[in-house]
Amino acid sequence: MNHLLKLSDLTGAEILGILDLADQLKYEKKHGIPHERLKGKTLGMIFEKSSTRTRVSFEAGMFQLGGHAMFLSSRDIQLGRGETIKATARVLSRYVDGIMIRTFEQSDVEQLAQFGSVPVINGLTDYCHPCQVLADLMTIREYKGKLEGLKMCYIGDGNNMANSLLVGGLRVGMTVAMATPESYEPDPQALAVAREYGDKFILTNDRFAAAKDADVIFTDVWTSMGQEAETAARAKAFAGWQVNRELMGYAKPDVMLQHCLPAHMGEEIAEDVFEEQVDAIYDEAENRLHAQKAVLVLCMENKSL
Ligand code: CP
Ligand code: NVA
Repeated sequence: MNHLLKLSDLTGAEILGILDLADQLKYEKKHGIPHERLKGKTLGMIFEKSSTRTRVSFEAGMFQLGGHAMFLSSRDIQLGRGETIKATARVLSRYVDGIMIRTFEQSDVEQLAQFGSVPVINGLTDYCHPCQVLADLMTIREYKGKLEGLKMCYIGDGNNMANSLLVGGLRVGMTVAMATPESYEPDPQALAVAREYGDKFILTNDRFAAAKDADVIFTDVWTSMGQEAETAARAKAFAGWQVNRELMGYAKPDVMLQHCLPAHMGEEIAEDVFEEQVDAIYDEAENRLHAQKAVLVLCMENKSL
């Protein structure tokens, strides 16, 4: 595996291969089995947006793998003063063995991979959030014992999470039903991938129809990082779109709730349903660590899947 730029670059079998290694690394961590597979290697982590989970799980993960991670805020490195992505890719490749980046434009991540000579991992862009969705699929498989044939439902904004969930879910054989308010649909590029899966993908403005008989329900914030100026307009457009007890009632009785976090209680999610499913949601957050360790090993050992 050379890079993790977006999930549509991977086949379903490759995604499942990452999840298998993630399960193994989680087992090794829980049982104190050494797995220092990246001894002596350094990961540079560029952040142009805030983060709790991504930053801490990558840094802890590199340490557990015997390597080192370096936090590079764009406020502190020359990237924030106008040094280009191309120049940054060239110079960082001389020092580190891999680069993780959280930024705005997907094209910046692709350019980093093009002009650098080390693996690049996407830690979230406006377009997608592949590391999160690998952790999500890992968590669903832990709880449900399988992925193929399950119905995934996403309610809310057609944002980076929506784009990655629909690609990831479809690639591993799930049915994906997505409900967004009008004009908040997922990105056309992600939708083009989804259309290849025929009636396995449903896009609707009817959130109750999307939730019907779902095995797992996802939601995410109404206003993503970088969209703060639209907060008021979005609050208006998403009024009534909360995942709450009424909506959960349309799903299967054993439905599982997932949220990438941070969550906004009383906005996209009702606090009572969140608290009922808090274990599954924080297992999902924990699995960021294990899924990303798998990605780091596969990219930085340059292992094929
Ligand atoms: N879910 C997620 O990526 O969280 P952070 O923004 O805290 O990294
Ligand atoms: N859609 C959210 C996800 C945060 C992890 C955002 O981009 O802000």
